[in-house]
Amino acid sequence: MMPMRPRRLRTTPAMRRLVREVEPRASQLVLPVFVAEREGAISSMPGVERHTPGTVGRVAELAAAAGLGGIMLFGVPDDADKDERGSAGWADTGILQRGLRAVRAEVGDDIVVMADTCLDEFTSHGHCGFLTDDGRVDNDETLAAYVTMALAQVAAGAHVVSPSGMMDGQVEAIRAGLEGAGHTDTAILAYAAKYASSFYGPFREAVTSTLAGDRKTYQQDPANRREGLREAELDLAEGADMVMVKPAGYYLDVVADVAAISDVPVAAYQVSGEYAMIEAAAERGWLDRRGAVTESVTAIVRAGADIVLTYWALELAGWMK
Ligand code: PBG
Repeated sequence: MMPMRPRRLRTTPAMRRLVREVEPRASQLVLPVFVAEREGAISSMPGVERHTPGTVGRVAELAAAAGLGGIMLFGVPDDADKDERGSAGWADTGILQRGLRAVRAEVGDDIVVMADTCLDEFTSHGHCGFLTDDGRVDNDETLAAYVTMALAQVAAGAHVVSPSGMMDGQVEAIRAGLEGAGHTDTAILAYAAKYASSFYGPFREAVTSTLAGDRKTYQQDPANRREGLREAELDLAEGADMVMVKPAGYYLDVVADVAAISDVPVAAYQVSGEYAMIEAAAERGWLDRRGAVTESVTAIVRAGADIVLTYWALELAGWMK
């Protein structure tokens, strides 16, 4: 037999381009953005900043001009605006609602405007829901607050609401609330498989999180692959329009599993720690920044993600041009 020579298809850049299986598109990237009362840098996420309702429109405009698929807004209230229940999360004057209005005023329907639907940034204790008297996160009481929050986000202009608190039944509750209010066109991007990850560290700096303890009674154990599939199946049954896996890079098996069974688009969130690690190593000259960034996102798409949330979205789109 003649020797098999896979190297034939690697001989020139043109040949390699011809046979490339996946290549991230700008239109499948979503830029996560923090909206706060004051602008500010985030030391553990060099290159990422907090914006204000006054400046976030400009970022949205850049995202639209770059051809991104969407922008995902997170609210960062002042500590003084946090309370036990996280009521600034659904207040019409809450920071996230003001940010959403500013973004929609700027971009209209040119890109998809998404809102993080979770209470942790707004509660004084930093948990994603209401606490019981003995300090547990109360699943069913929290659901009603998520519905109120989702409705406030839609009123402020969100095209997509994104429940990320990992309460059981959150997708079904929000779907029912949206339908009941006549918001039949609002899509739900469900954080279906969200793991209790150490790679959220820089995000917690970004949102000035006050959490003491951890989220292990609601976010998933990183050891569990099958459970990620179960969470995704439940969210699909509850009516999710898109399902997400988070983090992304260390959970490519889960991304692939979910992509194999999902009949709706699958998103993956390349989280703050994934960003910070590459930035830190590149700053020391320990790896090639552009190569590592591109490879990390390509791998997520290769695993089966249709949509990727990444803090590098704007820069990646620039490189694609
Ligand atoms: C919770 C939420 C978190 C992230 C997105 N939504 C953090 C957490 O669960 O502590 C993390 C995102 C990132 O690390 O980039 N609302």
